[in-house]
Amino acid sequence: MKTALIAVGLIAATVATAVSQERTAGAAGATPAAAPATAAADAPVRFPSYDPHYPPPPGARDVFQLSQDYPTTFADDTFPWMAIDFKAFPTEYLRSVLDYCLEGNVDVDFKVQNNRVRKWYHAPWLHDDGAQFGGGREWRRGLTRERMARPLDLHRKQTERAQNWAVGFYNDRGAVSLGKVWRTADGRPDPSKSTFADNSVACKLLFTDASTAQIPYLSRTKTWTANIYPDVNYNKPRVDRTVRLLQLDVAVKDPRMADTTGWVFGTFIYDGGAPGPTVWDRMIPVGASWGDDLPVRTDANRDGVFVNTALTQARITSSLVERTGWNYGNRAYVMHHGLGGRLNGPIDSPVSSCISCHGRAGTYAGPTASKRGQPMVMAVFSAAKPSVYPMAQFDEFFKPIPGGSHIETQTGDRYMTTDYSLQLSAGIRNYYQSLRTPPPVADTAPRAGSVGATSVSAPAQEPLRTVDRDGN
Ligand code: HEC
Repeated sequence: MKTALIAVGLIAATVATAVSQERTAGAAGATPAAAPATAAADAPVRFPSYDPHYPPPPGARDVFQLSQDYPTTFADDTFPWMAIDFKAFPTEYLRSVLDYCLEGNVDVDFKVQNNRVRKWYHAPWLHDDGAQFGGGREWRRGLTRERMARPLDLHRKQTERAQNWAVGFYNDRGAVSLGKVWRTADGRPDPSKSTFADNSVACKLLFTDASTAQIPYLSRTKTWTANIYPDVNYNKPRVDRTVRLLQLDVAVKDPRMADTTGWVFGTFIYDGGAPGPTVWDRMIPVGASWGDDLPVRTDANRDGVFVNTALTQARITSSLVERTGWNYGNRAYVMHHGLGGRLNGPIDSPVSSCISCHGRAGTYAGPTASKRGQPMVMAVFSAAKPSVYPMAQFDEFFKPIPGGSHIETQTGDRYMTTDYSLQLSAGIRNYYQSLRTPPPVADTAPRAGSVGATSVSAPAQEPLRTVDRDGN
């Protein structure tokens, strides 16, 4: 624990702020050491586990630990989903990926580094977004803040807004790329190393603080205590609240998609009324998608939930589509997908899609120093619902982006893509945000010590735009 939290001195002065933030995270009980005079060049830097603005109380137990011993090699495994045609059998494919995500992780309650079957890993630098979104990893489970659920997003009975928080993790092959991007000689992330190996897998558990009275299908779901905001006003301080598992996302780098996006995305919804003895048996696939069907404009401006049969690059579970007037009891159903019926999960925005947002995982790669860390824009968040979606921007956000890391242009700027990993582009954004000149000390007094002390007199810089599921 102690060594995990003590910053290893890096020579590059430019990362000093990042390192000092890491020490702040050591408030969990580690004594921050003075920067060693001679840096151990080969000792890897340790990334903080949780948001230093919201540390655990002294003596807290069960503090989230970032799984960050990223491997450099991986075994030549075979994977059960490789034998399944995801276009013909999307449910079976997703079930097989889900089983893999759960194997060994359920036993250790998703302390994924303790998994006795195979280890999983967390992406770094999601612990602190510079307070712009206030969504840094909370200290109990490593959850980061997700898009807020609006009334009727999740259920006919939902009258209140709800906070959503999630934690994702990568398998060993995926983590090889995390290590290549983040453990660099000069300490700066290298997005050009993002390209994920075939069968890299990312899984993500998404929790909500909505009650079962608001969302009846959350009955008997998995709960955690998370240290989050008291309510959707996101006022500090964070407090302990019960959160309920609502959605589970997966992404697989599938070699059968190598010529296009490279990835198959899938999502599940928890269904309290489904048969099955465990929570995991009651996770129902919402759909799978491997492309954005650029030519399909049919129903792009249609609100509500429907299956768009014009789509060829997504499979949607039609039995989950809400039938009006039906008494669902505690059965799950969905009230929207993404734009034009493209795949998105219950907590996601109805004007986007998994593939659309994730294809735009990228970080500024042009010459302007002040834009370093700037993420690509993922979606038109200003459109509250499909009927007001500006179709003039459809091509920009639904055109296919090839897998692998490479240069893309967006609104005249050059970006290096991070191969559909928004955890990489978000982490890179947060890292560069931490190097920016912070606002004057008076503004940051409540969180003094968390930012570099040297830049008090320098003018504040505009924060970099955030990478979150919503834009607000
Ligand atoms: C509005 C944009 C947006 C949409 C739509 C979206 N995501 Fe994401 N997703 C994000 C962001 C931002 C992150 C990184 C932040 C985090 O994990 O806390 C992320 C992270 C993930 C991760 C963790 C690994 C990674 O790639 O970063 C998975 C897996 C994932 N999403 C799957 C999905 C699936 C499946 C869907 C569709 C059902 C989806 N996402 C829809 C924005 C989006």
